[in-house]
Amino acid sequence: MQKVLVTGGCGYIGAHTIVDLINHGFEVVSVDSNIRSTTQLLEGVEKITGKKVRNYKVDLCNLEDTHAVFHENRDIVGVIHFAALKSVGESVNDPLYYFQNNITSLVNVLKCIKEFNVPNFVFSSSCSVYGNTTALPVVEETPLGEAQSPYARTKQMGEQIIEDYSRVNNTQSILLRYFNPVGAHSSALIGELPLGKPDNLVPVITQVAIGKLPKLTVFGTNYPTRDGSCIRDYIHVMDIANAHTKALQYLLEKRNTDNCEVLNLGTGNGVTVLEAIRAFEKVSGVKLNYELGEARPGDVIAIYANNSKAREKLGWTPETGIEDSMRTAWQWEVALRDRVLNN
Ligand SMILES: NC(=O)c1ccc[n+]([C@@H]2O[C@H](COP(=O)([O-])OP(=O)(O)OC[C@H]3O[C@@H](n4cnc5c(N)ncnc54)[C@H](O)[C@@H]3O)[C@@H](O)[C@H]2O)c1
Repeated sequence: MQKVLVTGGCGYIGAHTIVDLINHGFEVVSVDSNIRSTTQLLEGVEKITGKKVRNYKVDLCNLEDTHAVFHENRDIVGVIHFAALKSVGESVNDPLYYFQNNITSLVNVLKCIKEFNVPNFVFSSSCSVYGNTTALPVVEETPLGEAQSPYARTKQMGEQIIEDYSRVNNTQSILLRYFNPVGAHSSALIGELPLGKPDNLVPVITQVAIGKLPKLTVFGTNYPTRDGSCIRDYIHVMDIANAHTKALQYLLEKRNTDNCEVLNLGTGNGVTVLEAIRAFEKVSGVKLNYELGEARPGDVIAIYANNSKAREKLGWTPETGIEDSMRTAWQWEVALRDRVLNN
């Protein structure tokens, strides 16, 4: 069985990806400091897969501790690096925290990859690297725009660091630019579990609908879009997860044509915030309490993917649309409530 090291495995996308990796025959170990998570999702992963996943509770900004994990797992065939802080708003208010955490952890992981000759590396990038681009849908060759937040800048810098590293080292890398990951595993045993107040639209929607939050604010309603709200490309988290498995298999089978390749992971469909709200209301039957508010600093106006490259290279196809994504997100929120009520 081939072993993979997943950083940030206790987080939202990491946990869903671990399920897909295990379902495709990989053995997985996780490293996560739990700065933005608990081990709850890994318990869900175990229930879904029947496999226990070890998590090393290690801050990747600590090189010595990170080194010890790699030393103990010399047989890994690749690293999938999810660990990062991801709140746009928080990064605007505290940029140094974001540079310190997201860049130091990446550099430490790469130092260990180099020392232990790990052949394959997959990085969680983001469509935020494109900035406020007007060329839609974005292709991987679309020139990167000005980063709209320090968070986005950490992704641009992270990509450049990996490109420079891959040029002169033996590691084969793939940078996956996610659009907006949403939804939950169909079992409702894992899903998005933000600590504290959520930042992303869908957990805010589900938390308002369940009564954890009083109301949702739609940030910006005068954008030059079809209904004035921002446009995003909402992609189901299990589709994102499966792209990681396929990216790793692609590297393992040496099908890559460059040391460092970039792929967009989106559905290709732009959906406005107001359309997303309506899709949620339709599948849940819940009327959402929302208000129209001011635009937020750091938000891009509209972005959606051209995903042809990931489809062609990885043989990957996103399978879930916005309504089913909302349905699984809602089922997860309801399951969380029921678990609390039953305890
Ligand atoms: N969710 C999104 O909307 C989205 C979109 C684009 C890109 N991404 C990227 O995908 C990756 C995963 O995102 P997610 O939604 O699963 O986030 P998440 O917060 O649920 O998971 C990230 C995990 O990384 C861990 N972590 C952070 N810093 C760490 C450190 N120094 N050492 C060890 N662990 C650390 C956190 O504790 C958390 O469990 C991130 O790199 C994020 O930037 C996410």
